[in-house]
Amino acid sequence: MPDQLADVRLEEPCPSNLPPIFPAEGMPKRHKRILFVTSEFTDFVKAGGLGDVSAALPRALLAEHDIRVLLPGYPQVLQSAVACKVVGHLPGMAALPACDIGELRLADGLVVYALICPELYDRHGTPYGDDQGQEWPDNHIRFARLSLAAADIAAGRSELSWCPDLLHVNDWPAALAPAYMAWREQATPSVLTIHNLGYQGSCPLGCCAELGLPDTAGLPESMEFYGKLSFLKAGISHASHITTVSETYAREITGEKFGCGMHGVLTQRRRRGQLSGITHGIDGSWTPNLDPHLVERFDATHLAGKRRNAEHVERQFGLLPGRGPLFAVVSRLVHQKGIDLTLAIADEMIAAGGRLVVIGRGEPELEQAMKRLAENYPGRVGVHIGFDETEARRIFAASDFLLMPSRYEPCGLSQMYAQRFGSLPIARHTGGLADTIVDGVTGLLFRDETPESYFDAISRALNIYRYPDLLDAMRRKAMKSPLRWEDAARPYTSLYQRLLQQAPARAFR
Ligand code: ADP
Ligand code: GLC
Repeated sequence: MPDQLADVRLEEPCPSNLPPIFPAEGMPKRHKRILFVTSEFTDFVKAGGLGDVSAALPRALLAEHDIRVLLPGYPQVLQSAVACKVVGHLPGMAALPACDIGELRLADGLVVYALICPELYDRHGTPYGDDQGQEWPDNHIRFARLSLAAADIAAGRSELSWCPDLLHVNDWPAALAPAYMAWREQATPSVLTIHNLGYQGSCPLGCCAELGLPDTAGLPESMEFYGKLSFLKAGISHASHITTVSETYAREITGEKFGCGMHGVLTQRRRRGQLSGITHGIDGSWTPNLDPHLVERFDATHLAGKRRNAEHVERQFGLLPGRGPLFAVVSRLVHQKGIDLTLAIADEMIAAGGRLVVIGRGEPELEQAMKRLAENYPGRVGVHIGFDETEARRIFAASDFLLMPSRYEPCGLSQMYAQRFGSLPIARHTGGLADTIVDGVTGLLFRDETPESYFDAISRALNIYRYPDLLDAMRRKAMKSPLRWEDAARPYTSLYQRLLQQAPARAFR
């Protein structure tokens, strides 16, 4: 097994001794080949919005591109109902084990490559940790393996009869791929999408040897970050282009408040035109008159079905009927999401007649605090610590208002799902929330990260609730507003085209 990347340096992006490269069945040859690299994919496993985006965006791009997905071979992937055929093999490097590549052909034609490496991925839990939320200690190896696999596939080292023209990597778990390619002088262009700058994938500088990194990896202009190695910084330094998931967040992360220490390098890339914001859409499964998860389907002109879903959720969560609105939290229970702010205003909200339903899991203290709130308010607050897609969808359909007082929100999908299902989001004016909610029209926005500012918005909601015609008019507008993926995906096509045109002339660092 080679110990260093230098030992496997490649002169060409795809060596000419490869078997001929075939476009996906039925696709014209002009379609460019894109490898979309991700650690979550909602068909099999998700921890949050990254899974939803990874399942939806490649599908939306499939008509224009031969786009395929690469993800780790977790048990949820390899034991799914979709057949998996071994189609390739990758050698090991340093402490990264050799692995096989499995191919899954999904019913709609999307091809998914799963990295089969049982010692790294055959574990129960989330993509990142065990069932108790404890992160795996070897995550740097697990995701360096994913990143190197992407770089190797782009280099034609995988035995696959397919080689991408461009890599699209997502968040820190895949962000080492552009760096591996740069160190090997592979010319394949790459896009890094930052879904959340708060998660950076750091490990000690001493891990260089295990990960097979060159000495230059430890330099500040590469992936050194405050005395550690940062996977995300590797992607930020070496990807051809960086996108993030809303216009507002793209601006916010170049400032100190939201830049998580990376605002300097992000500002440089923005000035060079290499950092842009592309807001997500939502996929067609979020259509309330078609969604099989719902107790009763409805649409903007027939809102009665929304009431049936509310009755079901009230029964399921032991809520008593009330004259006030039903507020909902469908969220990871983490600091980012301002869950503590909701806890801070809960007494006042319930005193004013509100009821609250919560589904999610996350930080143990916030989970405990939510459970205590439910114990203090039987019949008024119902909490499920855990996650279930059907339940989540029913809650979007059942609730009057969705609470999203996020401290920061790169894009946010839940506020869009809520709007589509006629639940008005109450959210902080930040990131994608500011870009996808029209204050006073499709939801309510507040500015300050304080319980007072938040409760002002709750008071506005309580007022709106007193006027059913106004509430219904807002609901109807909200149900029409969220962007569809078919439109939201277009800027990615333009970006890929631009990078592919520039590719031969580019000098990659
Ligand atoms: P984020 O990705 O920051 O969690 P988004 O609003 O982009 O926020 O995405 C939320 C998506 O994740 C929704 O589909 C929501 O239903 C789902 N979700 C929320 N909480 C959890 C959880 N604890 N586990 C899995 N999925 C969750
Ligand atoms: C992240 C962000 C969220 C975004 C999601 C998908 O987890 O917190 O705002 O919508 O990724 O991009």
